[in-house]
Amino acid sequence: MASYRIALIPGDGVGAEITEEAVRVLDAAGDIHGFEVATDSFDWSCDRYLDVGAMMPGDALETLAEFDSIFLGCIGDAAKVADDVSLQMLLTIRKGFDQYVNLRPIKLYPGVATPIATASPETVDILVIRENTEGEYSSNGGFFKRGTPDAVALQTGVFTWKGCERAIRYGFEMARKRNKLGGSPAGRVTNCTKSNALNYSMVFWDEVYDHVATDYPDIETDMALVDALTMWFVKNPEWFDVVVASNLFGDIITDLGAMLQGGMGFAAGGNVNPERTFPSMFEPIHGSAPKYTGKRVVNPIATVEAVRMMLEHLGEVEAAEHVGSAIAATLGAGEVRTKDMGGSDRTHEMGAAVVAAMRASA
Ligand code: IPM
Ligand code: MN
Repeated sequence: MASYRIALIPGDGVGAEITEEAVRVLDAAGDIHGFEVATDSFDWSCDRYLDVGAMMPGDALETLAEFDSIFLGCIGDAAKVADDVSLQMLLTIRKGFDQYVNLRPIKLYPGVATPIATASPETVDILVIRENTEGEYSSNGGFFKRGTPDAVALQTGVFTWKGCERAIRYGFEMARKRNKLGGSPAGRVTNCTKSNALNYSMVFWDEVYDHVATDYPDIETDMALVDALTMWFVKNPEWFDVVVASNLFGDIITDLGAMLQGGMGFAAGGNVNPERTFPSMFEPIHGSAPKYTGKRVVNPIATVEAVRMMLEHLGEVEAAEHVGSAIAATLGAGEVRTKDMGGSDRTHEMGAAVVAAMRASA
């Protein structure tokens, strides 16, 4: 029997309660589909920072390297630790494990309300590939004369040919695999850029995109400046198939994408190391909502979606599809609704409903 070791990092705020739902769904999937799941939980968080002065131990990456995959709850609690300090933990894992693809599916399940009038299950089916290890997030820069009237801050984006190419290429591969346009062309990859203003980094990014595109004559090319892209996401979501974006642009457009899919409670992401040299990490993309800690009111669907993506990455494709169809059945039935959906059902009630739907269709 296949067996997987999963590292759990619940993190801060509501992280613990959503991680319980992740485990509940993982266990059910293993039980139904015949694999074993062993989890270890790590208390790496702002509370740990307050106790010992670090979010995670110095050998955290060595520890995590032993696992098949990582589930991350949510990080950050600005009342305890400054966000730019606590969130380094997330960025350190993404960079340290060369998780250079941030996979962010934007899909609207039937039965879910969205604030965007153009969004429907038929129009919203986008896959954003966000470069996840460099670009604007390269942590290069410095402060000079800080605290004086002459203070200076520099934050330098670093775009490498290799870094851009591998993320963009992954996008083209995904478009082929999705086959959303269903023939010739098989799919469309939109280049999210800003080369009209960023005359080095984004001009370079465009060059890489054009270079990669020549290897995929079956995939339609497309481009949108990031500002215009936010407009088009709202106006014509059905146009989009795969979108490739730099680290910061991908971050921004996927929060807008979350609204297309009904809110932050539905949006998940995978930090993927495609070569599998290192474990990949899956997470809901929402924050830690400290004010709701322990209240069990947040929507765990983003978490369950993250588990679905993890199962797919682990090769448990049937189990992943089963989780997806159970989410669809639960949301489609519309009986269980968390606070963000205008209901009063609790986090664990939504998690249990998804598991019940899995068991009912096992
Ligand atoms: C995300 C988050 C992170 C990011 C923050 C918390 C550092 O917004 O995963 O989208 O910017 O990548
Ligand atoms: Mn974000």
